[in-house]
Amino acid sequence: MNDEKFTITISKTGPYKVEGPTKLVDDSGQPIETREGKPFFLCRCGHSSNKPFCDGTHNRQEWDAELTS
Ligand code: FES
Repeated sequence: MNDEKFTITISKTGPYKVEGPTKLVDDSGQPIETREGKPFFLCRCGHSSNKPFCDGTHNRQEWDAELTS
């Protein structure tokens, strides 16, 4: 078993940063390619043209970045 941990960091006004050993799959379980060993960023605003990844559009759109609990 792999003891390495992954971390998801919620940026205050942008995407989720995912780093560490993990795999990303779609809703049918098919893998979505990420750069091995590199962090990737998942869109949190809903405006990316490259979902599920952030493409920086959140910087040009108005959206509510506030977290709910
Ligand atoms: S969070 Fe960056 S484009 Fe959506």
